[in-house]
Amino acid sequence: MEQKNCLRVAILISLFAISCGRELKFIHKDNLPVYNHTLATILVEYASAVYLSDLTELITWTCSRCDDLTEGFEMIELVVDVEHCLQGFVGIAKDLNAIVIAFRGTQGNSIMNWIEDLYWKQLDLDYPGMPDAMVHHGFYCAYHETTVRSGILHAVKQAKKLYGDINIMITGHSMGGAMAAFCALDLAVNQKIQNVQVMTFGQPRIGNTAFASYYSQLVPNTIRVTNDHDIVPHLPPYYPYLTQKTYRHFPREVWLYDDGFGTLVYPVEKVCDDSGEDPTCSRSVVGNSISDHLAYYGIELGSMVPGTCRIVMDPRVADYSTQDLAGNFVLYRDPSASVVKLKTESSLPSNFI
Ligand SMILES: *[C@@H]1O[C@H](CO)[C@@H](O)[C@H](O)[C@H]1NC(C)=O
Repeated sequence: MEQKNCLRVAILISLFAISCGRELKFIHKDNLPVYNHTLATILVEYASAVYLSDLTELITWTCSRCDDLTEGFEMIELVVDVEHCLQGFVGIAKDLNAIVIAFRGTQGNSIMNWIEDLYWKQLDLDYPGMPDAMVHHGFYCAYHETTVRSGILHAVKQAKKLYGDINIMITGHSMGGAMAAFCALDLAVNQKIQNVQVMTFGQPRIGNTAFASYYSQLVPNTIRVTNDHDIVPHLPPYYPYLTQKTYRHFPREVWLYDDGFGTLVYPVEKVCDDSGEDPTCSRSVVGNSISDHLAYYGIELGSMVPGTCRIVMDPRVADYSTQDLAGNFVLYRDPSASVVKLKTESSLPSNFI
């Protein structure tokens, strides 16, 4: 069974003509990402900005969370799936020499309800093309079966036309982290893009052990930042004794926590092992904090008006806008032109999240 799985992985990635076992593991180890604190503090600001609801300020990158380390970002496309209350964007960060993609976390229901639901999420969808890999359909569909995917892929294509093979950095907080992971896999597997890098913040588990294993082979350059007692990375639960039936994180976790006593407290950023479930990282503490979920590196994550899907748009931008019947739209800013041009996306039915 193990050998068979290994073989499938080898065929799937088809990058190396090898037998399985040791060699595959070795390649995996070689590819382990290096944690870069500076990059984390930049990407967390993108993960924070994507929560904002004023689309005019986002597309012109003048929002209250759009200064500081992300200054000068050039938005290409802002995707707003009103129907499912999802939001993401694609743009160019010249200082990183990269295409940056960011996804917003959950917004529709209160964060409390969303977290309570996480306890009961079933592994109920076979990930296409990956034998034995299972994920939760809600996370999967949020990226794959809404207007989000087509919007993101369109922008990535446009950006690559103009900028060539620069790195792609994908980020997101909470459920946005789950979407970032699915997007990265999509780019790596279906679009054959090699230089995809992922950094998520407070991401829940999204699939089983087989899925985590495929994921880490296909998108090795992934860092999953967890913060102190943040509850979300503990969910849906991990049951070590249920090998294939349990949710399991992919590597590599970086756990932020405070060490020391009394007035001698100092922050630690612990780079965890390559198992995805390092027992000495966030798993070593009880996940019982929502406030630890809502701020990473001192940056506020989450909406300023929680619990609503309200969006705000300047009439000058809205004038260019045509929406589909469900109200979903894409704000597209041609990276090679200065005009803000808008493009509609077709709607996809269903209410699945
Ligand atoms: C970390 O990332 C920053 C920002 O991208 C970059 O300038 C710096 O060179 C990186 N450091 C290392 C050691 O790679």
